[in-house]
Amino acid sequence: MPSRDQVHYFGAGPAPLPTPVLEEASKVLLNYNDTGVGITEISHRSPDANAILAHTQSCLRKLLDIPESDGPDGYQIMFLQGGGSGEFSAVVYHMVSLWLARLTTKKQQGLDHEVQKMKLDYLVTGSWSLKASQEAARLVGSEHVNIVTDARKHNDGKFGVIPPSDSWTPSKHADDVALTYYCDNETVDGVEFPSAPDGPNLVADMSSNFLSRPVDVRKHAAIFGGAQKNVGTTGITIAIVSNSILPPHSGMADSKLLRKLGLPVGPIVLDWPTIAKNNSLYNTLPIFDVWIAGQVMQRLLDQSPEDKSPRITTQAAESNQKAELLYSILDASDVYSVVPDRSVRSRMNICLRIKGGDADAEKAFLKGAESKGLLGLKGHRSVGGIRISNYNAVPVAAAEKLAQYLKDFAKEQEGGKANGSV
Ligand SMILES: Cc1ncc(COP(=O)(O)O)c(C=O)c1O
Repeated sequence: MPSRDQVHYFGAGPAPLPTPVLEEASKVLLNYNDTGVGITEISHRSPDANAILAHTQSCLRKLLDIPESDGPDGYQIMFLQGGGSGEFSAVVYHMVSLWLARLTTKKQQGLDHEVQKMKLDYLVTGSWSLKASQEAARLVGSEHVNIVTDARKHNDGKFGVIPPSDSWTPSKHADDVALTYYCDNETVDGVEFPSAPDGPNLVADMSSNFLSRPVDVRKHAAIFGGAQKNVGTTGITIAIVSNSILPPHSGMADSKLLRKLGLPVGPIVLDWPTIAKNNSLYNTLPIFDVWIAGQVMQRLLDQSPEDKSPRITTQAAESNQKAELLYSILDASDVYSVVPDRSVRSRMNICLRIKGGDADAEKAFLKGAESKGLLGLKGHRSVGGIRISNYNAVPVAAAEKLAQYLKDFAKEQEGGKANGSV
């Protein structure tokens, strides 16, 4: 049985966590802060829990340069449950209610008619933004969902590109748009936005590239991401939400009116205003998960010079370095083909085929990798192939070991071809 230091894990999520964080976690599970009580046993409303929450929020603010929590230009940092998928619904509930509240400040009559104009603009660039758009259609009806772009239509029916913005079809009137939605990094398809797109009421899913590069937070109405890839354990989702779309700076539609107009009313545990008002403590918050995220974030802060802003730049440089190393080896051999277009290659999820998707070669690759302790490299079941997830907790040494294996495997395959034996 291999020990932890004999393997390197490249799974797409849940993903590796820094070993020192897990070592400390095993201690606090038994006894937190010399209280004699384990961290999962303490009340989420205790002073210790409050301190954990405040610490994690403060680290995140520094890492991503998130404006403070006060005033109309401020942002709230919330922790929710229900995963990234829960937020697919939460964003719709919230942005639709907000849109209706804004509408009713201008119009009181003929709301039934006005509501027909409401649009939710989705940029579909991979499996996760597709799922999010499907959830929106389920909640409000497909007639309200405008697919601004569907990348498959520009790439032989497959994801792998981000079509040029001059081919997009955003809704004509900005006032009609309840949200513009994009997924910053498509985990399954290995497609990452080089920079944030434009659009009114911009909402981003950053589940799989959270804390891997600087983000223009102020451009967004909201950003969310599940913790289980770059940040922590499965169990919390982080939402960074602009005060400008939260009470008291903005109104929300009354649930009676939403129901009357046939618009959805979401569960209270996904309701951003409620979670913000209660500083994420509306219901029982898994404080251990928040603690883990805080420890991971503190390590990122400790490794970054204080005069760097945002403080995530140090980690971003390392992520780029690892990704560049791996892509350079893939590009150097015909044995490998990177799936997405070069212009949108993800730094986090590197998707490739071996010999154009030769099942035996891919099986041999995975088997050989496993024998070297390089684990979690199988592509998502929906697309197959190989996927290298290059999250923050994957050390440079692990990327280097994998790089060497990629080189050796290619050489072996090329040699085999030369000998006519493959
Ligand atoms: C980009 C992205 N968004 C959303 C999700 C869904 O997250 P969850 O499984 O936490 O609901 C995932 C899961 O892998 C993801 O990669």
